[in-house]
Amino acid sequence: MTQDEMKKNAAWAALEFIPRNTVVGVGTGSTVNHFIDALASIKHEITGAVSSSVQSTEKLKALGINVLDLNSIDSFSVYVDGADEINAQKHMIKGGGAALTREKIVAAVAERFICIVDQTKQVEVLGKFPLPVEVIPMAAAYVARELTKLGGRPVLRDGVITDNGNVILDVHDLAISKPVELEQQINNIVGVVTNGIFAQRPADMVLVGSATGTQVIR
Ligand code: A5P
Repeated sequence: MTQDEMKKNAAWAALEFIPRNTVVGVGTGSTVNHFIDALASIKHEITGAVSSSVQSTEKLKALGINVLDLNSIDSFSVYVDGADEINAQKHMIKGGGAALTREKIVAAVAERFICIVDQTKQVEVLGKFPLPVEVIPMAAAYVARELTKLGGRPVLRDGVITDNGNVILDVHDLAISKPVELEQQINNIVGVVTNGIFAQRPADMVLVGSATGTQVIR
């Protein structure tokens, strides 16, 4: 079974956990693209979606799913998104698709975060996947120097501008033993919009797609 088929298994398994007649939070990425296909199959049973990127908004709309402005909603029950890495504490690295800031905002409003991944995303220690950090363009060199002081090796992601008009530094060589603390520490650097550690608000449930089916971790 290919990695994409395992992503698809996890994505379709999420349908079981989507409450009906309410708004659904939708992440970004190739796993979420499968989830949006799944969501389209129940589109008449949900009120609509809140999206975390231009890419997901376009796909949602193309499939006839109503997309709502996050500012028009006080709360909603479930946010579904993928991850680049996830550990046993359900802390994640996200942002491989550069959508980390909007993802973190939508996740913050949701009551529950359901993470959908294939089994290759499970790790013991976060950091093998270079940590994405969204940065205000004029601060990129300064933030890169500060990230180097923290032991990382930041590399500007070539040619990428986020949906918010910012740049991404991918930080290599970090072994993230204290994700909650490092998330806070990096966010404290002036010029950082947010970083791709999702530990202060971890996932509540993980659906892990593999060749033998989908494991539910509560
Ligand atoms: C998007 O910015 C990311 O946070 C994605 O959730 C993450 O990169 C997972 O992507 P895939 O589902 O494409 O592996």
